Amino acid sequence: MEILRSKEALRAYIERNREMGKIIGFAPTMGALHDGHLSLFAAARKENNLVVASIFINPTQFNNPADLHNYPRTMEADIQLLQSTGDVDALYIPAVSDMYPHGTKSKSYDFGGLENQMEGRFRTGHFDGVGTVVEELFLQVRPDNAYFGEKDYQQLRIIEHLSQSKKMGIKIHPVPIMREKNGLAMSSRNERLSSEVRQAAGMIYQTLQRVDEWFRVLSIEEIKKRVEDIFAKEKYFNLEYFVIADEQTLEETDFFYKDRSYRAFIAVYAGEIRLIDNKHLE
Ligand code: PAF
Repeated sequence: MEILRSKEALRAYIERNREMGKIIGFAPTMGALHDGHLSLFAAARKENNLVVASIFINPTQFNNPADLHNYPRTMEADIQLLQSTGDVDALYIPAVSDMYPHGTKSKSYDFGGLENQMEGRFRTGHFDGVGTVVEELFLQVRPDNAYFGEKDYQQLRIIEHLSQSKKMGIKIHPVPIMREKNGLAMSSRNERLSSEVRQAAGMIYQTLQRVDEWFRVLSIEEIKKRVEDIFAKEKYFNLEYFVIADEQTLEETDFFYKDRSYRAFIAVYAGEIRLIDNKHLE
C-alpha cells in the first residue's frame, strides 16, 4: 500500500494510474478504523481496480471542540489494519494545509434542504464542514466511485446531492451499517464507551427494531411516545431526537403515505458521547 502524505504526492499517483486507465474507488475516513470502514474498502475493491482511502480528521465538521479534541487518533494501528486487509492500494493522509490552503474555514452550501433536518438542527455548521472537505477530496482524488456508510445516512444523501449538483460525475455507493454483536452501530466513538455502557447500548438498535414492528400499526405520535417512554426509564442514555423521516426529502413526517419510503433516525447521549443510528422501515 502506498502512503501519500501530500496533495502533490496524491496528484502524481492519480495521474499515473489514470494514464493506465484504472477505475478509481475512494472511501474517505477520519481514521480510528473499524469493521464498518473495512466494509467500505471491501465494497470498493469489488468494483474498481484502484482503491484509495483517506484519513483526515476534519476540524470544520466538529461543532463541539471537546469532541474534536477527544476524537481517537490511531494512525499507526490504522495503517497496519489497512495493510493487513489488502483492499486498499493507496492511503492519502493530507496535511491541514492540503485541505485548507486558505485557512481552516468551511464553505457555505445549499444541499436542497437536506442539511436542515436532524443532524443539521443539532450540529450547527456540521454539513458545511463535511461538504467542504468531501468536495476538496473529490477534486483531488477524482474517483469514479465513492463509498459511504449508511450509519451517517443524512451525510450520505448530502454527498449524493453535492456530487450531482456540482456535476462531479462520481457515483456514490451506500454501504449498509455494520453492527456489533448486540446491534450497536459500529462507530469510532464506541471506543470511548465503558464496556458496561457499550453492552447496554444494544438497546438503541433494539428500539429501532421495535419501531419497525410498530410502523403501520401505530400512529407516528404513538410510536414517538413509546420511544420517549423507553428513554425516560433509561439509566445510561439520554434521547436527543427520534424522527421518522421520508427517505427522499429527509423531512420528518407525521403521516405515512403508501407510495413513500421511510426511515427512523435516532441520536442519544451516553454521558458526553453522542451516538446516532437509523433504520429503514420495512
Ligand atoms: O464520515 C466520516 O468519517 C466523515 O464525515 C468524512 C466523510 C470522512 C468527512 O470528513
